[in-house]
Amino acid sequence: MKKLRVGILFGGRSGEHEVSLLSAASVLQAMDQSKYDVHLIGITKDGRWLTAGDAAHLLPSSTGQAQHLRAGDPEATPGAALLEHGKEVVVQPVPSSADHSSSSLATLRTSAEKSLNVDVIFPVLHGTYGEDGTVQGLLELADIAYVGSGVLGSSAGMDKDVMKRLFVAAKLPIPKHVTLLRSDWQQNPRRAIQGVEAILRYPMFVKPANLGSSVGISKAHDRKELAVAIDLAASYDRKIVIEMSIGGKRGKARELEVAVLGNDSPEASVVGEVIPCKEFYDYEAKYLSEGSQLIIPAKLTKAETKRVRQMAIDAFRACDLAGMARVDFLMEPGISTGSRPRKIYLNEVNTLPGFTAISMYPKLWQASGLPYNQLIDRLIHLALERHEEKKSNRYDL
Ligand SMILES: Nc1ncnc2c1ncn2[C@@H]1O[C@H](COP(=O)(O)OP(=O)(O)O)[C@@H](O)[C@H]1O
Ligand SMILES: [Mg+2]
Repeated sequence: MKKLRVGILFGGRSGEHEVSLLSAASVLQAMDQSKYDVHLIGITKDGRWLTAGDAAHLLPSSTGQAQHLRAGDPEATPGAALLEHGKEVVVQPVPSSADHSSSSLATLRTSAEKSLNVDVIFPVLHGTYGEDGTVQGLLELADIAYVGSGVLGSSAGMDKDVMKRLFVAAKLPIPKHVTLLRSDWQQNPRRAIQGVEAILRYPMFVKPANLGSSVGISKAHDRKELAVAIDLAASYDRKIVIEMSIGGKRGKARELEVAVLGNDSPEASVVGEVIPCKEFYDYEAKYLSEGSQLIIPAKLTKAETKRVRQMAIDAFRACDLAGMARVDFLMEPGISTGSRPRKIYLNEVNTLPGFTAISMYPKLWQASGLPYNQLIDRLIHLALERHEEKKSNRYDL
């Protein structure tokens, strides 16, 4: 039987480049080479697409140390890969260092030596230019099946402002929030702060709308901190989301996470809980320090567990996601009483969640009876199913 050709697309231009390298190394290691013909496609931080050995150089070695994460000298490696579907060359992403005035998808090359034929691509990319629908759009244009959500779901799942609107439309509970435009902030910071304070109480969480891994996020305890936090978030995005802090002044929110898998009939895993080692789950607590704990299953009442799992599926559907997503919640700390159950809010969906063997998404499936390698099989199958399903659309009048 012919092996399925799977491209693992990793690295990328986002701040989460290093996290992607770790996820991709785990995926690669778990893929059954007797079933799959695996092709590595690495994207350097400056946007060059590398294949084969050049791509492999980007990955951390098996002894993976933090200093290896930046390995792979983009200057010393040859240029872009070709993505081919069937015999046709469909897209050639041109390195971003090339002339920006020319369209980067327009140049087609027929040279077979760097061309790559794949049946399906697994984008193991996090954040901007990977999780946000851009790469998904490229793969749609190239008519290549790919793991995970489509263009709309990916971009909706990336934009915390739009995501919240979809949650509200689906009647899912979210923390009270305000969205501020960078231009409004720059034109009149005093009025912006007054507007925020009229709606929310301190402490507040301030976030760039489109980012991940807690980059650019701060907890503001007073007006002075709020201004600094908005400045920081505004340096990352033109939209800033400011929201009430769950747990308030005294407590810390409990952070629950559910893994969802499927296309039109998504399933939810058991519920997990993250206990960050810091005041909140910031970049350091997520990736750099060893102190944060993952607890599976989370200690919740039966009713809470059921509700969270249902909300995860509702959130997945609300954002029109596909394949996989990790759905994250914030829960009031303390003890539930019959008359006053603890409130559980939806925080966000992550369409390309961390995917190392010790990441929450695969661990939640492991705890639900689906081991890592079988999870990858399922995701690839779902990608092919979705690609096939799309063929039943007609495009004529
Ligand atoms: N409204 C909130 N109340 C309490 N903690 C929050 C709130 N929003 C965010 N946090 C904390 O900040 C972390 C990062 O925020 P999140 O919205 O998940 O951004 P990211 O997409 O970068 O993961 C959360 O995991 C949590 O620790
Ligand atoms: Mg998060």
